[in-house]
Amino acid sequence: MPEPLLEVRNLKKYFPVIAGILRHQVGDIKAVDGISFTVYPQEVLGIVGESGSGKSTAARAVIRLIEPTAGEIYFEGKNFLALDQTALKLMRKNIQIVFQDPYASLNPRKTIGENIGEALLYHGFVKDRYEQETRVRTIMAQTGLREELIHRYPHEISGGQQQRVCIGRAIAMEPKLIVLDEALSALDVSVQAQILNLLLDLKQRLGLSYLFISHDLSVVRHIADRVSVMHHGVIVEAGLTEEVYNNPQAPYTRKLLASIPPSQPRRKS
Ligand SMILES: Nc1ncnc2c1ncn2[C@@H]1O[C@H](COP(=O)(O)OP(=O)(O)OP(=O)(O)O)[C@@H](O)[C@H]1O
Ligand SMILES: [Mg+2]
Repeated sequence: MPEPLLEVRNLKKYFPVIAGILRHQVGDIKAVDGISFTVYPQEVLGIVGESGSGKSTAARAVIRLIEPTAGEIYFEGKNFLALDQTALKLMRKNIQIVFQDPYASLNPRKTIGENIGEALLYHGFVKDRYEQETRVRTIMAQTGLREELIHRYPHEISGGQQQRVCIGRAIAMEPKLIVLDEALSALDVSVQAQILNLLLDLKQRLGLSYLFISHDLSVVRHIADRVSVMHHGVIVEAGLTEEVYNNPQAPYTRKLLASIPPSQPRRKS
C-alpha cells in the first residue's frame, strides 16, 4: 500500500443541544461519533448513508470548515488539526470541496471566468491577469465549458454548467483531494451522468483522489473504489465497493441496498 493521502482517525463532531429559558446545554447531537477512514492517492473513497447520517458534518470537519470535537486527521502524514489559521489557508488548496448546490457556491456578481480564476493570483499559480485568463481558459476546456461562457454570470448558465464551474474552480488550485458532498444530487439524471464522466476523466488526467459523499448508492458504485457506509454518525461497514455491494455484511447495508430502485426497467415481453 502507498502512503495514505488522507487519514482520519476516530473523528467526532458533536453539536450542543440548548434548551430552556436559561439556554442551558442539555445534551449533544452526536452527528459524527468516531469514524475512521483512509484515502490513498488516486483513489475514490465513497461515503454513503441516509439523510442525517452525518456525511456532510464529516466532510466539513475533515477540511476544518467546522472544528472537530475529537479525532485525528493527517494529510500526507502531517497533522492537519495542528495547523494554525495561516498554515491551514495554505494547506487548504490541496483539499478542495464541491457542494450540492452549485449556484449557492458561486459568487453571483462575478463572471464564470472570475469565479474560476479568483484564487489563482492569491495562491501564486499565475503572476498576472493575462496568465490568469489563459489558465482559466484551459480549465474551462478541461471541464467542458464553452469558451464564450467566460463572460457570463452564474445565473445565466445551467445547473450542470454551474457545477462544472465549481469543479473548475476546485481543480484550479491543483488539489490532490476533492471532497464532493452530494455534488450530483441537485442535477437531472442525464446531467448527473455527464458530470460523473467528467469527474472520472479529471481523476484520470490529473491524478486526483476523491472523497465522494452521496446518499445515491448507484452513483457511488459507479465511481468509488472503496466505500464506507455511515449510519447515525458511525461507519457500519467498509470495504471494496464491489465486495460491499455484492456481499454486504452489516444489516443496515443490506437494508440500504434493498431499497435501491432497479437502474433499468425490466423489458416487458
Ligand atoms: N450546525 C448544526 N447544529 C446542530 N445540529 C446539526 C448541525 N449540522 C448538522 N446537524 C445534525 O447532525 C446530523 C447529521 O447531519 P448531516 O447534515 O451531517 O447529515 P447528512 O448525512 O449530510 O444528511 P443529508 O443526506 O441530508 O445531507 C443531523 O441530525 C443534523 O440535524
Ligand atoms: Mg449532507
